[in-house]
This record gives sequence, C-alpha cells and structure tokens, in this order.
Amino acid sequence: MWNSLREIKIPSFAKASAGRPNSGFQTGESLTPHKLSEIDYEEGERLKTGFSEMDEVLGGGIVNGSVILLAGDPGVGKSTLLLQMALKLSGDSAVSRQSRKLPPSDANHKSVLYLSGEESEQQIKLRAKRIFKNKNSELLLLSLTNTDEAVNAVQEVKPSLVIVDSIQTMESENLTGLSGSVGQVRYAALQFIRAAKTLNIPVILVGHVTKEGMVAGPMVLSHMVDTVLFLEGEKTTGTRLLRGLKNRFGPVDEVGVFAMQDGGMTEVKNPEQIFLTGGKEQAPGSVLAVTLEGSRAFSVEIQALVVFSKLPMPRRVSSGFDYKRLELLLAVLQKHVKLPEATMDVFVNVVGGLKLSDPAADLGICLAIFSSLKNLPLKKVVAIGEVGLLGELRTVMSLEKRVKEAKKLGFTKIISPNQYKSLYEVIKSLS
Ligand code: TYD
Ligand code: MG
Repeated sequence: MWNSLREIKIPSFAKASAGRPNSGFQTGESLTPHKLSEIDYEEGERLKTGFSEMDEVLGGGIVNGSVILLAGDPGVGKSTLLLQMALKLSGDSAVSRQSRKLPPSDANHKSVLYLSGEESEQQIKLRAKRIFKNKNSELLLLSLTNTDEAVNAVQEVKPSLVIVDSIQTMESENLTGLSGSVGQVRYAALQFIRAAKTLNIPVILVGHVTKEGMVAGPMVLSHMVDTVLFLEGEKTTGTRLLRGLKNRFGPVDEVGVFAMQDGGMTEVKNPEQIFLTGGKEQAPGSVLAVTLEGSRAFSVEIQALVVFSKLPMPRRVSSGFDYKRLELLLAVLQKHVKLPEATMDVFVNVVGGLKLSDPAADLGICLAIFSSLKNLPLKKVVAIGEVGLLGELRTVMSLEKRVKEAKKLGFTKIISPNQYKSLYEVIKSLS
C-alpha cells in the first residue's frame, strides 16, 4: 500500500529443521547418502485413536511423525470427532485418578495438544462436557491463531499427538495475506509438517472444504501431507462417512461409518441398522441394493414413490442419488420396459443419508420405481447391477462380495447379472 511500510521477518528455516537426531532428515554440511540395505527401519507402534473405524481407515492407527489432513464441510463434525479422540487418548488427571484410587498414570494414555484457532478454550470445554462425562481430562488446550507461536508450543510441549483446528485459521506475520489464503495455509502446513518430521510427532490438520473449494481450499495441501481423510455426510441426517483419500501408510478408499448424535460421534459397526428401515410391512417402492465403498459392501434401502403428475413437466426428485442418472434410468425404463413414466412424478430416496455413486445401484433404482408404479411389494429383494442404455444388465465390481453381504443379512432373493441379461428379463420375471 502507498505510503506504508511493514516489517517482515524472514523465517529461519535452517534453525527450525536442525531438529533432534532422530528426525530422519539430514541437515548441515556433510550430507551422505546411505545404501538402502544399511538403513535401519522398523515400523514403530501405531497410535490407536480409540475409534476402530478410524484406525481401519488409517491402516491400523496413526504413524509416528505423520501428518494427516482431515477435510470436510463446515459443521460436519470434524472438531467433535477429533475432540472425542483427544479426550479418549489423554485420559484423566492425576488428581482424579487419585480420588478414584487408580494408579497415578496409565501407560496407555498419551499427551495430546489441541490447538484451536476457531474456538476459545472455554468453548472447547463446553463441547467436551457435552461429549465426555469425565471432566478431569489431561488434554492440553491452546487457543491461538499465530502459526509460529503454535509451532513453538508444539516444540516446547512435545506431546504425543497434535491437533490443529483448523489450518485456515492459522496466520503468520512472516507473510502477507489473510488467514485462509493459499499462502498462509501452505505456510502453516509446511511449519507443522516440519515440526512433525523433526520431532517425530503425528499432527492432524483440520481443513474446511466446501464442494467448490476442493481445488483452491486446503485440498492444495493434499500432496504435502501423508494422509488425507474426508468426513462427509448430509447435515439433515446423522450418518457420517470417513473416507481415506490418500494414505502413504495404508489403504486408500477405506470407509468408516459414524453417526452424529447428541453426545458426539458414535461408531456404527453394523451400518445396515441405518441404511435399512425395519418394519415387516410389504410396502411397494422399496428395494435393496448393495453398494461398495472402498473395500466395504453396504446394503442400502432404496425407496421410490411414483404418482400421476398434474404438471406438464412431471417432477423428478432424488435424494442420495445423482439426478441425471435418475433421468437416464427413467428413459431406459420407458424405452425398453415400456414403463409409462413420462406422465408420472418420480421421487427416489436412499435411506440413511448415503450418497450412492456406485453404478451397481442402477438396478435397485429401476426396480424400486417399477415396484411403486405397479404397486408390487419387493421389500425383500436385493438388486445388484448396472443398467446400460440399451437396457442390458452389466456385471459390476466385486459381485460375489456384494452377494455375500446380502446373504449375511439373511436375504435370499438376489437379482444380479448372473441370472439376467437385461432389465426387461428382470421385470418380466417379477410381474
Ligand atoms: P463440529 O464438530 O463443530 O463441525 P466442524 O468442526 O466440522 O465444523 O460439529 C458441529 C455440528 O455437530 C453442530 O451442528 C452440532 C452438532 N453436534 C451434535 O450433533 N452432537 C454433539 O455432541 C456435538 C458436540 C455437536
Ligand atoms: Mg470445527
């Protein structure tokens, strides 16, 4: 700006990286490459998060010195999940243990430093009270937004785990730009990554991402961090999926299922509870599909409601399923099965707030629509298969696994490309 000067400190990178000898990175004058065979490495014990759904997504827990980006829409539950995890890990205070006649320290408990740039320490305490009954937690809280001070705190405390909530709120005087700008976010991430690698402490960075922000937001950090997790779910339902998008130390595409409840996030070990509605009544318009998320197969209920339309342009409403794909399937039903859908309003819903992107759900959608239109209950039918534009049924990835999942839940009527070649054949066999 004209007529104004601002002092800028140049960060001393060399000092910051001259870390402890076990940092794994060489610094200084004499740098010597080593033969791979001469390098000792044993994977240390991974830090268990206290949530087995999360450990599995991570590939067995948190690797020491690794940096994890937990991304997700604002309000989806990132802070809640991490605070719960931090509380579980840190255990309760010495005073509280004494009063309950427990030994002073528990070797399983870790020191966790929770750095928050979003909420004050009091606000976090309030949230903690809501999700954790024990008030005497050893968890270390620090509310601040200055990147360099935050990194200094990590270096001083040397905890077993650091959580930074969120990376967008971190701001350094060393560079221009407001908090949340790409420069500030990248700088902050770099500082925390450096601290993680030099001190061999795992760091979890929280990043708010809106769908539009996938490219410009904290996802620009994807290539800098070791692991990227994405927490997703519709605000209106409690179901939350934790996905591994990138993982240097484990599988990608693994999925953990959680439910956001009044007392925080709970793990969902049997997702069918959420994705299938109970009830024995044989209502038309409901069919089961089996979707694959990562390596896990989930049975989900698809509901359709088809009624005569009063509108010149009948309505097509879909929730949990791509609207364009629904239109395409309706066109296939009209052309190849002669279903009179053109004058009908069609509503499709995936139970439990799951977003289906798996083509194997096509047949389920088609049959749910057919079932509602013809008033023919198909509640116990499991439909697996992709529907092509010519009305043909195509086989899908891991068909056997899906069939096994359906059978595990006690469903025996399974319709798949194994028995039928086209949608027409399936519909004929049902009507
Ligand atoms: P939060 O963890 O703050 O989201 P993020 O950090 O991803 O922005 O979650 C906020 C939402 O979660 C808010 O709408 C209230 C809800 N919530 C619950 O349903 N139960 C709870 O126990 C808590 C703490 C929050
Ligand atoms: Mg938050």
